[in-house]
Amino acid sequence: MNRKIIIAANWKQNGTSKSLNKLASSIIKGINKTTRKCEIVLLPPSIYVNEIKKLLETKKPYNVFLGIQNISPYNNGAYTGEISISMAKELQCKFCIIGHSERRIIFNEDQISLAKKLTLAIENQVKAIYCVGETLSEFRKNMTKKIINNQLKQGLDRSLKLLRKNPEKLIIAYEPVWAIGTGKNASEKDIVNTHKYIRKILFSMFGTLSEKIRIIYGGSVNNKNANTILNLNDVDGVLVGGASLNAKKFVEICSSI
Ligand code: PGA
Repeated sequence: MNRKIIIAANWKQNGTSKSLNKLASSIIKGINKTTRKCEIVLLPPSIYVNEIKKLLETKKPYNVFLGIQNISPYNNGAYTGEISISMAKELQCKFCIIGHSERRIIFNEDQISLAKKLTLAIENQVKAIYCVGETLSEFRKNMTKKIINNQLKQGLDRSLKLLRKNPEKLIIAYEPVWAIGTGKNASEKDIVNTHKYIRKILFSMFGTLSEKIRIIYGGSVNNKNANTILNLNDVDGVLVGGASLNAKKFVEICSSI
């Protein structure tokens, strides 16, 4: 099955209004000249989502979409500091990241709240980039498959019915925790094996519908390794952190498919 490649820029908690507008403008300018083959997703810090939305409305790039890095596990209400899926949707966010390891580990997000977030995203027709991945000690203990199996089951089980109606709204990001921001990406063999395993689990949950679910890789993707990673079996895109803060590098990544 032909699944459209996703190249997502996770800017995390970086930048200023000025620097991110400049970064987004340079990316839009660069990619227009290059590729139309993929979906490019910009994920600014939430406070700047509206500005990037306005920029996209002015520049109207064909294949660039907006996303949010995190959402609340609750609908609107008394939840100080949180941002609901409907707020993100109102600002034209078509994607949201759920369960990034920085949220799981630094902010102690548990599987129950991640599963709730996933339901809310799919109910609201926002595409969910659900992150899974093992830590270094789990990797060393050969526990990758077990961890990923648990994260997938615990995250998706609650939304199975909804997801069966909207399989294309789900994207799984395999992000080994030890590869994030470290400059050490997972080996080609590990990426292929893990993506194959994720596809197997997805098949057991969704049958042939699982072919519509994209599986992307994240963890030290840069302009040098993107081409190799994007050409691996069962890799439907990349989630890029550090290298997405540099327009030239990110445009190179987008052009490498
Ligand atoms: P990195 O981050 O590209 O800086 O390793 C990836 C991510 O956290 O999604």
